[in-house]
Amino acid sequence: MSVALIAGGAGFIGVHLARRLRREGWVVHVVDDLSGGSAHHLPLLEAEGVAVHVMPIADPDFRALLGQLAPTRVYHLAANSDVRAGVASPDLDLQRTFLTTVDLTSALHAAPPSELVFLSTSAIWGARTGALAEGTGSLEPQSAYGACKLASEAWLSAHAHRTGQRTWVFRPANVVGPLATHGVILDFLRKLAQDPLQLEVLGDGRQDKPYLHVDDLLAGIETGLSEGVAEPLAVFNVGPSDGVSVRWIAETVVAEAGVKAAIRYGETPGGWPGDVPRYRYDSGKLRGLGWAPAYTSAQAVRATVRALLAERR
Ligand SMILES: NC(=O)c1ccc[n+]([C@@H]2O[C@H](COP(=O)([O-])OP(=O)(O)OC[C@H]3O[C@@H](n4cnc5c(N)ncnc54)[C@H](O)[C@@H]3O)[C@@H](O)[C@H]2O)c1
Repeated sequence: MSVALIAGGAGFIGVHLARRLRREGWVVHVVDDLSGGSAHHLPLLEAEGVAVHVMPIADPDFRALLGQLAPTRVYHLAANSDVRAGVASPDLDLQRTFLTTVDLTSALHAAPPSELVFLSTSAIWGARTGALAEGTGSLEPQSAYGACKLASEAWLSAHAHRTGQRTWVFRPANVVGPLATHGVILDFLRKLAQDPLQLEVLGDGRQDKPYLHVDDLLAGIETGLSEGVAEPLAVFNVGPSDGVSVRWIAETVVAEAGVKAAIRYGETPGGWPGDVPRYRYDSGKLRGLGWAPAYTSAQAVRATVRALLAERR
């Protein structure tokens, strides 16, 4: 039976990925230090028959576990996903996003998997006009998160070329869906739970980005893995070609929550220093292999608002 190990698998995307792999018949092990506040996902994972190991990737026991399991596929999802926290303390991204990648590759020597999958991000580009494709340059990340994801990609590339480790890098747009642990929709819902009469938006609301439903992300990863040959490295953008504004998201959240909140906007184009206010995605490479998102950005956001509201009831 094929064994998959998901580093950072107790987080938002990890839970969906673990469930999907279990349905496909994989034996699934999750390693997570719960730094991302995802402890409430553990019962969901265990109910699906996923083995959960609570430890940081840097723990010597992680290397021992790899040697013992000899997984066919390793997914590297472990990172700091609180981009704003990384603006205040860049060391957070250095430690959790980049050095976790370094620790992971050194542990992989114990049992190199047939396939290594890494989730990168659109934040590696910084602010650019035009739709971002895999080959778009130059790369000028504006956040410590983006910088440490770019550094992780570079590190994994060197690792792949030095060792022959077949490695897939996926660069998802903003991922949304049930069980979200962070992001603009959850942020708005939490604020409304505290005060249903007003909603404060970070930035002027004109930020406009693509939103990818987590189911579309997982389908994209599957397509890239089955069709995209990694010799030794393959890179794919994953995202819808359209986008929606933060103003539209705020209005949708307020309407779906059934509250009469006054929406108050900030004055800056970005939500926080390092936030890239506008971008579009070109996922033509993955589309060429047959992948297409089932959700537009607006559909993905609306479905997520409804799912997160249902989770809170
Ligand atoms: N959600 C998005 O919009 C999005 C977009 C692009 C890329 N990504 C990437 O996808 C991956 C998963 O994102 P997510 O949204 O599920 O985030 P998440 O924060 O919910 O999950 C990340 C998990 O990694 C764990 N973790 C962090 N450092 C660790 C370490 N050193 N050892 C063990 N576990 C550790 C956290 O506890 C958390 O459970 C991340 O790498 C993220 O950067 C996410």
